[in-house]
Amino acid sequence: MDKILVFTDIHITKPGQTIIGLDPAARFAQGLAHALHHHADAKAIIITGDLTHYGSRTEYRRLKDILADCPLPVHLMLGNHDRRAGFHEVFGGPEGFVQFRLDFGEHTLLCLDTKDDDAPDHHSGYLCATRLTWLDQQIKEAKGRIVTVLCHHPPHDVGFPGMDSIKIRNGRALLARGNGFDQLICGHVHRTIMGHIDGLSFAMLKSPCHQAPLDFDDTETASSIDEPGAYGVLCLMPKGVVVHTEDFTLPDQATILDGASGTSS
Ligand SMILES: [Fe+2]
Repeated sequence: MDKILVFTDIHITKPGQTIIGLDPAARFAQGLAHALHHHADAKAIIITGDLTHYGSRTEYRRLKDILADCPLPVHLMLGNHDRRAGFHEVFGGPEGFVQFRLDFGEHTLLCLDTKDDDAPDHHSGYLCATRLTWLDQQIKEAKGRIVTVLCHHPPHDVGFPGMDSIKIRNGRALLARGNGFDQLICGHVHRTIMGHIDGLSFAMLKSPCHQAPLDFDDTETASSIDEPGAYGVLCLMPKGVVVHTEDFTLPDQATILDGASGTSS
């Protein structure tokens, strides 16, 4: 089994700037340290977008500093809060869409760029013909393997009117390709959500920092709540993918207890 650590929506700000009173850089650094301590055997880290809050060079440089001593390979993706120019200036890489394929044993992870630079609402995602062609080609090449697609925006509603208004606008295009892959992993909503829709299994992961409230009447797109920060652990199994989520800001349990007897194990 290979483990992959997944962070999403880390929203790094410039020093001194907080989001609902939380310091995103401190939270990400805390989560990264926790993940590296408890999952040192992981093969890689993927961060599925909203690397920064405003897409500034200062924010990307701050992220680069936090990652400088990370012993694992780190793969960065973009979200609606990111800006391509600042990202490329600090992290390099070819111009154009930030999407790539990672292979681990029998597993293929397809990291798909859903950021829309021209979104009329500034935050929804879109899959243009170029990206869909890339996805189709990758799915074709990965035929017979266990395929997971990771992207920032979900392609479908989750029941929050505000966040549903800024999903992938043509998400049907991704769902329609669902028989070509086995699992979808998203961020964007800042909440742990999982399910099965249109024949596709999906999981959305929390931010290490600020979360979305569980409010099915919320028409806002930026409502946030200070619930525990988290990261995901993908376990790439021989027959499929298991998605774990770890709330790393909860108090450490010094002793693991036996829940049946109430005694220490
Ligand atoms: Fe976000």
